[in-house]
Amino acid sequence: MYKKPCKHLSFTLLIVPVLILTFFPLNGCGKINIKDMLVKIQDQSANTSGKKDNKQTPKNFKNDEMLNNSYKDTKSEEIMLPDPKLKGIISLEEALKNRRSVREFSGKDLGLDDISQILWAAQGITESKLGFRTAPSAGALYPIEVFVVKSDGFFHYTPNGHKLEKFGSENLKQKLMEASLFQESISTASIVIIVTAIYERTTVKYGERGIRYVHLEAGHVCQNILLQAAALQLGAVPIGAFSDDEVRKALNLPTDHKPLYIIPVGYSK
Ligand SMILES: Cc1cc2nc3c(=O)[nH]c(=O)nc-3n(C[C@H](O)[C@H](O)[C@H](O)COP(=O)(O)O)c2cc1C
Repeated sequence: MYKKPCKHLSFTLLIVPVLILTFFPLNGCGKINIKDMLVKIQDQSANTSGKKDNKQTPKNFKNDEMLNNSYKDTKSEEIMLPDPKLKGIISLEEALKNRRSVREFSGKDLGLDDISQILWAAQGITESKLGFRTAPSAGALYPIEVFVVKSDGFFHYTPNGHKLEKFGSENLKQKLMEASLFQESISTASIVIIVTAIYERTTVKYGERGIRYVHLEAGHVCQNILLQAAALQLGAVPIGAFSDDEVRKALNLPTDHKPLYIIPVGYSK
């Protein structure tokens, strides 16, 4: 004889799966959680569209307290750089073929045009609305800062406005050379570029993996500099052998800046 299902049983069959799904969502079973994915994508697009929340926004370098404290006794002077050229005499393929580490320089000084071109290649802004740059950056968080040591002083490159901030008039090449196992390419180059990173700008969003991203980004920036130097028929060498602390001391860098690369640039001998 057919028995009508009991009311309690159908209620139980309906409610139990709902309760299980509520408390043990599918991602616990190793499947993709669509909601998490959407949140991530939105988060990513908010970051690249300039609508960053405060927690994730890298500090504007101008307002960076650490940097301002480091150079508080120095009246910083701004130097507007000439516009970068978007066409050169050497193709990308030729620059790739010609790039070679150069450690001996003629002593002839670089002009401001060449310095401008090299700094633009390193971190220049190539998309004015969102501020995207020549080198890619994870989450567009831009943890890399670029400094320049010249015979007439020490400078910070500000991508916004394509300018240099002068932080001192001392020629720091000798001190930097001593901090870098006495590598003479540093003291004989016309200019020395220092690539530093503020890890927190990236790790605040990506955690420990952000450290890897920062190192990858320093590589992008350095290669841009080396290829631009090759395209200008200049010599350059990427230097990684130095004492972080001594470099930081020589340049009076704030403690949150980690020097990652030193790149002497000049006319080859
Ligand atoms: C991460 C890294 C660190 C380096 N450090 C130094 C260095 O401290 N001093 C130096 O003279 N060259 C340094 N170099 C340059 C290498 O010695 C050079 O790239 C290598 O000899 C190959 O020659 P090439 O650059 O002409 O192709 C470094 C290169 C890299 C990628």
